[in-house]
Amino acid sequence: MEKQEIRTFGRRHGKKLSIRKNLLIENILPKICPNESESNDILEIGFGAGEHVRELAQEYPNKIIIGAEPFVNGVAALLSAICDDNNEIRPEYKNIRIFPDDVRLILNQNKFKFSTIWILHPDPWPKARHEKRRLLAAEFLNLLGSNLKANGQIIIGTDHWEYYDWITEQVKNTNLIICNSKIETIETRYQKKNMAHTTETKYIILTHK
Ligand SMILES: C[S@@+](CC[C@H](N)C(=O)[O-])C[C@H]1O[C@@H](n2cnc3c(N)ncnc32)[C@H](O)[C@@H]1O
Repeated sequence: MEKQEIRTFGRRHGKKLSIRKNLLIENILPKICPNESESNDILEIGFGAGEHVRELAQEYPNKIIIGAEPFVNGVAALLSAICDDNNEIRPEYKNIRIFPDDVRLILNQNKFKFSTIWILHPDPWPKARHEKRRLLAAEFLNLLGSNLKANGQIIIGTDHWEYYDWITEQVKNTNLIICNSKIETIETRYQKKNMAHTTETKYIILTHK
C-alpha cells in the first residue's frame, strides 16, 4: 500500500496461540501464500475463522481459493482446520491459499483476476465516528471491480441492514451494478454469534456495468 489506508479491521491478535498453531503459522502458512502464476479464481475477504473458505475449497476442488484475513487467530484457526494430526494439509484443502494481511495490499497490485469475490459480514463500524473505517466504500468497490474477471461477481452478505443500505448507496458511485440474485451459504461463526439479536442476512451481488 503506497498511500496510508484507513484501518478497516479491529485487533490483529487475540488470545495466545497454542504451540501447534504457532508451528502451523511458521511452517505451513509460507507454503500457501497466493501465487500470481496460479489461476486464482475465488477470493474471500475477511474470512474470520475460515469456515466458508473451507466450504468453497470443497465445492470447487479444481479452483484456487484465496482467503485474506489480518486477524492472526483467525488465520491460525483456518490453518488448524485444514491440517491433519501430522500437520499436513488435508487433500480436500490443497486448493486454499492464505493472505494473512489487509486484502488491499494484494488488490492494489492488480495482479489477480477473480471470477468471484466473497465478503461475508464485513465489520459494520456502526458508530458515526467510525464510518470512515467501513471497507466497502465506493473506492474499494471499484478496486474489487478492477480485480474481477469480465463476467465475475462480488458477493456481499451482511445482517447489518443499515450497512447494507449504505453499501447500496456506495455502489451508485462505482463502475459496478447490483444484479438481483438469491444466494445460499453456510452460517459463518460471526453470523451464528449474532443470530439472537440481529436480523436475517441480506446479500448484494455486484457485476461490472
Ligand atoms: C465481522 S468479521 C466477519 C468474519 C467472517 N466473514 C464471518 O462471517 O464469520 C469481519 C472480518 O473482516 C476482516 N477484515 C476487515 N478489514 C479487512 C481487510 N482490509 N482485509 C482483510 N480482512 C479484513 C476482519 O479482520 C474480520 O475478521
